[in-house]
Amino acid sequence: MNNIQPYIKEHKDRFVNELIELLKIPSISADSAYKNDVLKTADAVKTSLEKAGCNTVEICKTDGYPIVYGEKIIDKNLPTVLVYGHYDVQPPDPLNLWNSPPFEPVIKTTELHPEGAIFARGACDDKGQMYMHVKAMEFMTTTNQLPCNVKFMIEGEEEVGSSNLAIFVKNNQEKLKNDVILISDTGMIAKDVPSITTGLRGLSYVEVEVTGPNRDLHSGLYGGAVANPINILAKMIASLHDENNRITIPGFYDKVEELSKAERAEMAKAPFNSENYKKALVIDAVYGETGYTTNERNSIRPTLDVNGIWGGYTGEGAKTVIASKAYAKISMRLVPHQDWVVITKLFTKHFESIAPKGVTVKVKPHHGGQGYVTPIDSLGYQAASKAYHETFGKIPIPQRSGGSIPIVSLFEQELKSKTILMGFGLDSDAIHSPNEHFGIFNYLKGIETIPYFYKYFTELSKY
Ligand code: BES
Ligand code: MN
Ligand code: MN
Repeated sequence: MNNIQPYIKEHKDRFVNELIELLKIPSISADSAYKNDVLKTADAVKTSLEKAGCNTVEICKTDGYPIVYGEKIIDKNLPTVLVYGHYDVQPPDPLNLWNSPPFEPVIKTTELHPEGAIFARGACDDKGQMYMHVKAMEFMTTTNQLPCNVKFMIEGEEEVGSSNLAIFVKNNQEKLKNDVILISDTGMIAKDVPSITTGLRGLSYVEVEVTGPNRDLHSGLYGGAVANPINILAKMIASLHDENNRITIPGFYDKVEELSKAERAEMAKAPFNSENYKKALVIDAVYGETGYTTNERNSIRPTLDVNGIWGGYTGEGAKTVIASKAYAKISMRLVPHQDWVVITKLFTKHFESIAPKGVTVKVKPHHGGQGYVTPIDSLGYQAASKAYHETFGKIPIPQRSGGSIPIVSLFEQELKSKTILMGFGLDSDAIHSPNEHFGIFNYLKGIETIPYFYKYFTELSKY
């Protein structure tokens, strides 16, 4: 890749400004009030792909938000890279915790990012990381260095479960045919410690509803004499973990893959500083399943977490009331071989079985997806490894992530190709949190590294 560094140096301000324009559009897929903005973002992505040199770009309608598809096929005999990303973002709330408005991007320097970071919802997840691919494409086409065929598939519903993308993929196998799938929607260990994500956790997301009396009651007149749905829900949730922080749902661990001592020793080589970890989160201790390290707890072990809980009176002051209903949203992060449909059923059965007399319980499954692990001896992994080595001067460390991109396992199932996860985000980027940001160093390094992936993947594919 000749002249990539001078090209980036010359165009970096424009690269940053174009991303800032994209970040100004609030493409919140979860909130229907932003429908027009989500659609507008799809159009902006389409235009950017056209400008970057794709031959055909189309907005593919679905029952939900559209998928932007673009391609440049230069020679049928050359390999094809399929790039996936998402243009939708998480809701920004709580708004009052943002230091600047989430959709008015600003560049600020931080201790970690003396070169500056772009603060906005979606800066890292995933507009910034997706746009690195668009700019890498621009570089390769304008300098006549695109070594293979490229397809882009950028969706607008990742943050709400990708259900329409799943249908699109099943119906468009020929169109999406590829030799490798490339995604930047994960992180790396540190700015100077490149890593390639080799695993994603699966997910089962459910909502539970506990109903007691038919109406909200006076907590004095009825208190102590009827089951309080909020008390009961709290008790039920607390019982889902034992004293070793293991999940108590029968059968939950049946399929969990136990890693060998050697694999765990390999994992433990990744740099991790417990003191810094605690300091960054302002906590005095880590917490989790007995017998596992922090890095293991958040990657190779399954979890169950309450994401939200509500019911009764939560307004100002006090209201004496026993609520009729209590609710919680619960996510379970799953590891490879745990099937999310099976786990959802196990959860439902168990949760219903532990409800005491005096309340009724409903479990509503939301969405889910399987986990993913990718081997480190594939052509794609080797190409990615060489690409990072080229731009960071270091061999990247394989790392399993705790997050989920449920569609990845479906890609493998339907399109029969491996996914390479070249993430450039940092844990401190605060994705899904207030003050999300993406370091300009990371953004530009991504743009620099991606073309080398194309180069090495094409070269390695020849043999
Ligand atoms: N990009 C994230 C997933 C991610 C982040 C994986 C960092 C690894 C490292 C993605 O946008 C996301 O947020 N996924 C959701 C699941 C989805 C079904 C809502 C998640 O992990 O909660
Ligand atoms: Mn994402
Ligand atoms: Mn996300």
